[in-house]
Amino acid sequence: MNNFNFYNPTKIIFGKDRISELDKLIDSNAKVLVLYGQGSVKRTGVLDKVIAALGERKVVQFGGIEPNPTYTTLMKAVEIAKAEGIDFLLAVGGGSVMDGTKFIAMAISYQGKNSEDLLKPGFASKHVIHAIPLATVATLPATGSEMNSFGVISHKAAKYSVSSPLVFPQFSLLDPSITFTLPPIQVANGVVDAFVHTVEQYVTQPVDARFQDRTAEGILKTLIEIGKQTVDHPTDYDARANLVWCASNALNGLIGAGVSQDWATHLIGHELTAMFGIDHAQTLAIVLPSLWRVRKENKHAKLLQYARRVWDINEQDESTAIDLAIDRTQEFFESLGIKTKLSNYGIERDKIDDVIDALNANGMTALSETRDLGLDVSKEILNLAY
Ligand code: NZQ
Ligand code: ZN
Repeated sequence: MNNFNFYNPTKIIFGKDRISELDKLIDSNAKVLVLYGQGSVKRTGVLDKVIAALGERKVVQFGGIEPNPTYTTLMKAVEIAKAEGIDFLLAVGGGSVMDGTKFIAMAISYQGKNSEDLLKPGFASKHVIHAIPLATVATLPATGSEMNSFGVISHKAAKYSVSSPLVFPQFSLLDPSITFTLPPIQVANGVVDAFVHTVEQYVTQPVDARFQDRTAEGILKTLIEIGKQTVDHPTDYDARANLVWCASNALNGLIGAGVSQDWATHLIGHELTAMFGIDHAQTLAIVLPSLWRVRKENKHAKLLQYARRVWDINEQDESTAIDLAIDRTQEFFESLGIKTKLSNYGIERDKIDDVIDALNANGMTALSETRDLGLDVSKEILNLAY
């Protein structure tokens, strides 16, 4: 097992009907900026419940954060927060609102001349020395943003990962029943995103990390068991509760501690979102099966373990067992209603060259846990995924 530091300070408030507890969780003197997306929380009544729970505190609202939150929109919230003397941020929404709120928390306190610098790789973790405290009411189980220190921000047709230990949410309120209103495709997206987060940290190089491996396998098996159930039966509380807790644990640092991590599927996928607007999880469903087929030899040991332990494939021939596991994975995504081919999204094949150019421009030339997935391999993967 590799050396690691593990730190996760986020308190989780999990279960039904807990929004009223916000009053106890946030300092009574805090001036709170409540942030939300493009209106779902208004339609579902969640925003009203949140505002009611905040009681007599000074509360300002900022709505309109878009899926794949943009720097430009987030900087408008920063101006408002500064003008209003805000000292606590409450994100009410999915990954986009939670990520955007983390960026806002850093940008409010950032003293440098240009807040765009915060988007540079590794910049925030080195240069951000203060951030406004934040918390979340998570309405979409997918990204794990409710329990990690990452945010993905879109700016000028590119996506930037930002991270700082200062933007772990102080607490996250996870009520599975407030996710019942999600459209089926967003639930399916959530299952796929949590699944791919898990395999990015598990189908890598073996380091004899048995707890992390078996925990990852537990998440994957749970997602396979409840994935279709929670898409088809949105108000089945227990199925949804299992998705919510799997999604948080897939990317809260636990299964990634001390293991080798890939993230190539995500980094290639981010270009597909930036370029074509394909939903984040759908880009992962396109890239992952082809990436595994192309990288079958590099990942042989863990792909075989995945086949045997996650899909219970007993086929003796190792190569055939791995092929079956990859096929089953792709069928699983399709069974949720997620298309797994680039051509399914109306993209012309010759656009693959543009994606490769964008990967090159963004420095994504040595991806994967072994840093040997270059542009030629990305091209092979995307052609296979077409
Ligand atoms: O904007 P509103 O009106 O709120 O509608 C949203 C949005 O249209 C809707 N929605 C959310 N909760 C709902 C709901 N509709 C009905 N009922 C509810 N309870 O769902 C749509 C999608 O929301 P979004 O937040 O964009 O989705 P998701 O949670 O999948 O987040 C995607 C973003 O997270 C980033 C992605 O790159 C993308 O920008 N990621 C963040 C990560 C992290 N912080 O660790 C890791 C991930 O790999 C990912 O990259
Ligand atoms: Zn993801």
